[in-house]
Amino acid sequence: MPDHFEDMWRTIEPLGRAARSGGYFRQPFASAERELDAWFVEQASARGLRIESDPFGNRTAWWDSGSGPGVVTGSHLDSVLDGGAYDGPLGVVSALAAVEVLRDRGFRPARPIGVSVFVEEEGSRFGLACLGSRLATGAISWSAARELRDRDGVRLDEAMSSVGLMEEDPQPWLSSEQLACFVELHVEQGRDLVDRGEAVGVASRIWPHGRYRFDIAGEPNHAGTTRMEDRRDPMLTYAMTALAANKQARLAGQRATFGRVETAPNSTNSVPSGVTAWLDARCESDEVLASLVESITRQAGERAERDGTSLTVTAESVSGSVEFDPHLARRIAADHETGDWPVLPTQAGHDAGILSAQGIASAMLFVRNPTGVSHSPAERAETPDCLAGVDALAETLERLAS
Ligand code: GLV
Ligand code: MN
Ligand code: MN
Repeated sequence: MPDHFEDMWRTIEPLGRAARSGGYFRQPFASAERELDAWFVEQASARGLRIESDPFGNRTAWWDSGSGPGVVTGSHLDSVLDGGAYDGPLGVVSALAAVEVLRDRGFRPARPIGVSVFVEEEGSRFGLACLGSRLATGAISWSAARELRDRDGVRLDEAMSSVGLMEEDPQPWLSSEQLACFVELHVEQGRDLVDRGEAVGVASRIWPHGRYRFDIAGEPNHAGTTRMEDRRDPMLTYAMTALAANKQARLAGQRATFGRVETAPNSTNSVPSGVTAWLDARCESDEVLASLVESITRQAGERAERDGTSLTVTAESVSGSVEFDPHLARRIAADHETGDWPVLPTQAGHDAGILSAQGIASAMLFVRNPTGVSHSPAERAETPDCLAGVDALAETLERLAS
């Protein structure tokens, strides 16, 4: 089995990796991610799996066996900008390796087993995370999604058509009628498993989270001749808002980040005309999330008044709290040779969360990340832990598909 996993890993490791940072650029419907998609089709076909592709670019490779709704695993192959190697691909490679393990053991599933790849999980190109699973389940309508644009102004339907996807009026298709359950294996994106000294864990829940666009308009002017007291500088409003968000989240034990900011006209010797910045906020409950964002928005508005700027805040996406199926989590976590696996919450969003919110029994397995760092070139998982993850996934699939 190690060979299956390591051979696949070696093949995909260079795809989309930047020489400079060592990080990955695997944006959806663009070259590296398309190479990974072709690699997935080739690997699945080589294993005799039947590939089902939807109009949005999602794929499922089926091991047809038994009857009834399938037991499905998988993850995504896209990355954030300058991301890590493991976030997404670890789940896909482990899924194919786990199928191989079960076949080598002569396991005969009582239900079909599927390996899924969902597109644009990170929202790094079109701004909406888990876009593929949202479209497949109908969590977002095609008419709303098709208007999304990337940073170059390319619309989602144009990007999809450019790689040969798209139908006239694509419909959601994914429901609990096709899927008995979904189990996503993922690299851990924090330090809980490191602190516990465990290689594998199971997810209990996902914190609610959202992305909010702050548009701040000011008055463009000369950086030298405009007296300081005469300025209406949106950068000041933004700077204070970023500090306020950090402080409020820190004091409340929650998470708030401004990781993306654009300024116009982006000129060193001009007071900017406008700043657009994106707040990523994540909290332990829906109520706390709403109240944190409301409070950051209020402080930003007060500062805008002081700066003579104007502020508009738009919620681009809000994902509510997800509680994974507790019976499924317990069933997966309990009674292993090495003892029960720990059950932990996560602050990261995942396709498994979207499926769960749409009524599909879902669960997640986490594999220890020794750096605890993610969405960064420093993201890691050691090979023995990856192999423990494959074993855990194979054991899980065997339990669920027997
Ligand atoms: C996805 O990884 C997210 O949590 O933003
Ligand atoms: Mn991921
Ligand atoms: Mn991610």
